Amino acid sequence: MTADSMVPTAELLAQTEKEVASGLQSISSDAEAEVFRIKYLGKKGLLSSLVRGVKDLSPEEKRNLGAKVNALFQSVEGRFKAAPWTQRRASADAGSFDWTLPGFPFPRGGIHPLTQIRNRIRDIFTGMGFDIAYGPEVETDYYNFGALNFQPNHPARDMQDTFYVKADEVLLRTHTSPAQVRVMLNRKPPLRCIMPGRVYRNEEVSSRSYCLFHQVEGLYVDQRVTFADLKGTLLAFAKQFFGEQTKIKIRPSFFPFTEPSVEVDVWCFLCGGKGCSLCKQSGWLEILGAGMVHPNVLANCGIDNEKYTGFAFGMGIERIALLKYGIDDIRILFENDVRFLRQF
Ligand code: PHE
Repeated sequence: MTADSMVPTAELLAQTEKEVASGLQSISSDAEAEVFRIKYLGKKGLLSSLVRGVKDLSPEEKRNLGAKVNALFQSVEGRFKAAPWTQRRASADAGSFDWTLPGFPFPRGGIHPLTQIRNRIRDIFTGMGFDIAYGPEVETDYYNFGALNFQPNHPARDMQDTFYVKADEVLLRTHTSPAQVRVMLNRKPPLRCIMPGRVYRNEEVSSRSYCLFHQVEGLYVDQRVTFADLKGTLLAFAKQFFGEQTKIKIRPSFFPFTEPSVEVDVWCFLCGGKGCSLCKQSGWLEILGAGMVHPNVLANCGIDNEKYTGFAFGMGIERIALLKYGIDDIRILFENDVRFLRQF
């Protein structure tokens, strides 16, 4: 063995490989590149010494380690040339690098359109003093139906419409309204809260409906909350979300947990109420269900219904997304196809 040769061993090779890998990563100047080159690849460098050390191995070890040492030398040489720093220097030296070119764009992730809409809805309501609560997606029959004043034979309780985890007891919530029940049970009025989240329905999947979608529930309970408060709040929301000139229309409807119950339409933002294909010539788009919290629901949640009243509403985020972006198939919102998502 001479001074500038070193007998290779498997451990030494593994150790060197590790050192080299982290060394290559950290090079960030010409000086550091040169230190690296001398330390490993130079005539007296570690790898060169190992290559020279092969001749001192026994014939059997030579067969075993010899090729490995050479391979390591070549791979490090290659990786050193290809290291980002060396590359940058090479093209600059060759004068081929145009420093005035714009940099490479970093591909950036975006926020899913459903999340964008949910965030916008959230910001508008938190701006009006609402806070946020979440309920579980796996619910009991009681929170999803019973406490909300659904009668025992209500069709929504049918297996056809609801995904049951355990028949008649545990289910995937079909709306965000059970979160209302949880908020009312856990807190004392005044309550001003929105509850966004996923809901599930056992519907045939088509361009119009999916087995999973998102809602934002709203709840306001205090003394002397009136229907006028509901109207005012929803109008303020619609103007902020769809534009200052937006009008809303309130139609009677039915939900077991609100009385009176209504459905709320907004002025078609595409045609401004004139009538177009989006609003089917009516000038209006239905966006949410709402009403005054049913006294039975307040009582079920331990709230004195002589003293307190409240309003609630629930809107579907997908529905708003389809309308807002002119999407004609709801399923595309769940496919995570980047060609679609990139547009937002
Ligand atoms: N939960 C109802 C639905 O899913 C919407 C709603 C919420 C209606 C709150 C009134 C009050 O259709």
